[in-house]
Amino acid sequence: MINFRFLMEQAQKARENSYAPYSHFRVGAALLSKSGKIYLGCNIENAAYSATVCAERTAIFKAVSEGERDFEAIAIAGGREGETYELCAPCGVCRQVIAEFCPKDFKIILGNNNKFEVYTLDMLLPLTFTSENL
Ligand code: THU
Repeated sequence: MINFRFLMEQAQKARENSYAPYSHFRVGAALLSKSGKIYLGCNIENAAYSATVCAERTAIFKAVSEGERDFEAIAIAGGREGETYELCAPCGVCRQVIAEFCPKDFKIILGNNNKFEVYTLDMLLPLTFTSENL
């Protein structure tokens, strides 16, 4: 059983390291691998804006670079600095990167510690372009 609440708490913890001096929009992600390890990620912005990387991709790239390829779930927590936040939807690029490694029933948890919702990758990215399309 996946502990969604714990994963969301970890995403909020990861958000504390967000480096977002330009947008002031801070995001944290916690990625649970099948081996049970959790990889944290935050958004890391850059003065050359396009060099910015999202929290989700930071977590996935950390995990893959350490040899993990099988994942269960990701929790994402984001919002503007100093404000309460409800639900931060992952951007299209991050959904596509998730789809590279994760099955249709991969769980995506959105919200915060008080209230969160569990989606599947298939719900957030139907008709996915994958290696099977090549
Ligand atoms: N951001 C993420 O980290 N994840 C998303 O899925 C949405 C956007 C970041 C990127 C940028 O640093 C800031 O939020 C505003 O777009």
